[in-house]
Amino acid sequence: MKSRWYKDAVFYQIYPRSFKDSNGDGIGDIRGIIEKIDYLKGLGINAVWLSPVYMSPNDDNGYDISNYRDINPEFGTLEDWKEMIDKMHQNGIRLVMDLVVNHSSDEHQWFLESKKSKDNPYRNYYIWRPGKNNDGKKPPNNWTSRFGGSAWKYDQNTNEWYLHLFSEKQPDLNWENPAVRQEVVDICNYWLDLGVDGFRCDVITYISKANGLPDGKYNPILRGDEHFVAKPKIHEYLNQLNRESWSKYDTMIVGEAAGLTRKDAELLVSESRNEMDSVIEFELSLVDMKFNAIPVKLNLKKFKKIQSAWQNIPDDCWNTLFYENHDQPRSISRYGNEFGPFRKELAKMLAISYITLKGTPYIYQGQEIGMSNISLNPDEYADIMTKRIFQITKKFPPLYWLAKKVMKKVARDNARTPMQWSDGANADFSTSTPWFKLNPNYGDINVQAQLNNPNSILNFYKKIIDFRINNEILIKGSYKEYFPNHKRVYAFERAYEGKRFIIICNFKSDVVNLNCIDMNAMGAKLVLSNYANTAETFKNGMTLRAYEAFIYYIES
Ligand code: GLC
Ligand code: CA
Repeated sequence: MKSRWYKDAVFYQIYPRSFKDSNGDGIGDIRGIIEKIDYLKGLGINAVWLSPVYMSPNDDNGYDISNYRDINPEFGTLEDWKEMIDKMHQNGIRLVMDLVVNHSSDEHQWFLESKKSKDNPYRNYYIWRPGKNNDGKKPPNNWTSRFGGSAWKYDQNTNEWYLHLFSEKQPDLNWENPAVRQEVVDICNYWLDLGVDGFRCDVITYISKANGLPDGKYNPILRGDEHFVAKPKIHEYLNQLNRESWSKYDTMIVGEAAGLTRKDAELLVSESRNEMDSVIEFELSLVDMKFNAIPVKLNLKKFKKIQSAWQNIPDDCWNTLFYENHDQPRSISRYGNEFGPFRKELAKMLAISYITLKGTPYIYQGQEIGMSNISLNPDEYADIMTKRIFQITKKFPPLYWLAKKVMKKVARDNARTPMQWSDGANADFSTSTPWFKLNPNYGDINVQAQLNNPNSILNFYKKIIDFRINNEILIKGSYKEYFPNHKRVYAFERAYEGKRFIIICNFKSDVVNLNCIDMNAMGAKLVLSNYANTAETFKNGMTLRAYEAFIYYIES
């Protein structure tokens, strides 16, 4: 029986390549993680989501797996991994691993076999189709890869095309084939037997494709996704994994769920349906994006509306709370002015604004010290997605110009710069040159400097993590939004058994007066705020300074 431990958890996401290098080759690794478990313990988190460490040719930094049961030697060995999970468990930290099974690497043994011939026993592990007009010149349908261009790659040897919703080195697995599903069950059980506490299922909403793989509606970026996001068979597939693997252990299963509606999400995570425990969805991450791709100024009213809608999903569903991960830009660069005088207050306000919501919060490495986006030239980006975008737009100067502007704000590499441990050589991430450029601000923004400063972002994260983990009201309480039409302030209440927190966040750098609220009259006690000095804020209603945020407690 599952113990729902994840409802009390605060997760920390590790992107291993950029976390800590232990052997001086410039690449973060498992022994580096082992070195930093004391740091994670000190931060107070009690669960880790580890991005892929499996064998991989790294076309997409490990999200292209060539052997699901072994560790990539650049990260270490299975023995190192076992030592890591033991030490995490000894320190009260659960470990959730990435499970990337919408696709494998094209260097996986299954694919090497599959492409040999049409009658190879592994042929049906992948999605092969003849070209549209049989001379092999036109792909089977018009779907686009999430990384740009057609989602099909022609293979001369067998005169057929295979589907790849991501890079051509990431062929999609054919979930219609029961043998593929059995393989996934076995992989899950293999890691669960080794002690992992659950999986973050990569792009799991894409595993079921519409019958007949019909052409998609016209959409320059996401063509076809109406035919593979959360199609009906996904429920059958997830039920099987749940029945034959996940439910036999005390797991947490969180599915990455691009393009999901709230109704679909409920079907995937409702407790009675035995599929997954929660989803990572992106409605909030798209609110400040036009056409799903071009960043625009944040409209706080829309942002709050989405946040509240997800907070109000039925009681037998559970939310995932996050602003950052390895695919998203840094939150202080995205939601405020990271270069202004209130950078620290901004970072702390953002922490308050989501860690106090209902659901399981995730903190992405470096977020807890206020790491920010990096400014790069086009040839400095390392991520396959950004490189593809430059490659495609290069022929069209106005588009290329736009791509350069947009990538500065949203490129996935913004979150993938090495962790800033100190102001020393290579930020103490490595003893040699890191695999990817360090953010030049590591002299100012680093762990070492913040550890000893009681007012640092890092020490604030420690406070709020502790506050969240040890607080029934925040874990179990109901949610109610205040002033939904306010354009600058996000305010809400969390209530449980007659006790309440009222959380008030100024998302803007201007001063805001909230005359309509009188905390003294309500008998409220201030329990946490992001400024060192809060003395003046009670007079004449409430005045919120730049990015000021409060948590009040009311017992009635
Ligand atoms: C997920 C991962 C992303 C990866 C993609 C393909 O979205 O988070 O990093 O590129 O899946 O596996
Ligand atoms: Ca290393």
